[in-house]
Amino acid sequence: MSFAELWEQLLPVGRDAQTGGYRRYSWTEPDEQCRAWFARTAAGLGLATDCDRNGNLWAWWGRPGGESGPAVVTGSHLDSVPDGGAYDGPLGIVSAFAAIARLREDGFRPARPVGVAAFTEEEGARFGVACLGSRLMTGMIDPAAARELRDGDGVTLAAAMRSAGRDPVLTGPDEELLAAVGAYVELHIEQGSLLDGLGAAVGVAEGIWPHGRWRLDFTGRADHAGTTRLPDRRDPMLPFAATVLAARDAAEQLGALATFGKVVAEPGAANAISSAVRAWLDARAPQVSVLESLVDEIGAAAAAAAAEHGVGLLIGRESFTPLVSFDPSLRERISGVLAAAGQPAPVLPTGAGHDAGVLAARIPTAMLFVRNPSGVSHSPAEHAEPVDCEAGVAALTAVLADLAGP
Ligand code: GLV
Ligand code: MN
Ligand code: MN
Repeated sequence: MSFAELWEQLLPVGRDAQTGGYRRYSWTEPDEQCRAWFARTAAGLGLATDCDRNGNLWAWWGRPGGESGPAVVTGSHLDSVPDGGAYDGPLGIVSAFAAIARLREDGFRPARPVGVAAFTEEEGARFGVACLGSRLMTGMIDPAAARELRDGDGVTLAAAMRSAGRDPVLTGPDEELLAAVGAYVELHIEQGSLLDGLGAAVGVAEGIWPHGRWRLDFTGRADHAGTTRLPDRRDPMLPFAATVLAARDAAEQLGALATFGKVVAEPGAANAISSAVRAWLDARAPQVSVLESLVDEIGAAAAAAAAEHGVGLLIGRESFTPLVSFDPSLRERISGVLAAAGQPAPVLPTGAGHDAGVLAARIPTAMLFVRNPSGVSHSPAEHAEPVDCEAGVAALTAVLADLAGP
């Protein structure tokens, strides 16, 4: 079972014919097709599969929680952002299965269980909270609150899971499963171009910037676009626009990142002043204190602009991940393995969030990055060359052989 074969099988699932981007949202038909592919692939490799209480998929070589000790797990996610690229997430899962296939062909006998995990709703594209599956598993989100999260059509997570045949009542911390995992190594496409600049196919992650999402609800008064005098308006679009510009300025001043990538104007008529504008702020910074200053500044600018225009404002935090420093000893061990295999891997920081960053609070985790010559991610333009994907599989194979070896 080669990387290329597995990659080709998964490639058409959930791809939009117009944009070429992926729309693999959790608990939808494309997600079910990805899950079926996962189960088929695992079965083809002789691995036992399981869907945990939180909807995350697992494939096992060996029995987790048994006498042979804590497992070595690799994996990533299969869901995408709207019109995402092919690699963000799936590269890690396909590489995991390809690495296991290679170990099997080589006659490798693991001394401890080896697992492949596919975490659900990593992007938070449907229910708003990134890394939802790993947050639920580690107890970092209240399961009752999570079950009530709603998608853009008002469908709750609980209802979505139920219609996919899962019991949402079981969602929540999974201490037994966590205790069965000794280390998690996630391979991921680099979401930038540092490796390309360094001329390296594979890198090792150092840590993840603190980041989070906030929702801003500006509420004004709907009225006629052709008859309402400008001074009489309470238009929520105006303070929203001022907030977008303030966010850009604050991010620039603080050496941070702030993005409004999703905005909904209600009711959405071209010839009416909006009654409400709902917008999502994604903010990231090198330190938590800088992130707090950034969000405070943006919030203050939003409040001032809303007051100026007679508009109401509510700001709520939807998710937050503190600074992640991946386990230094695991990272050094991986760097040593790759150097010994003739594939020295530079150490890189990242501003992108990952399940490995959530799991890092509970178990030793590490990440491998694969070169992305486009430097682009969360877009159909995301790309990795086949030769670099193969280098990623070779790196992951060497790492698994070391971590699961005698
Ligand atoms: C996930 O890709 C994120 O960083 O939002
Ligand atoms: Mn992503
Ligand atoms: Mn990802």
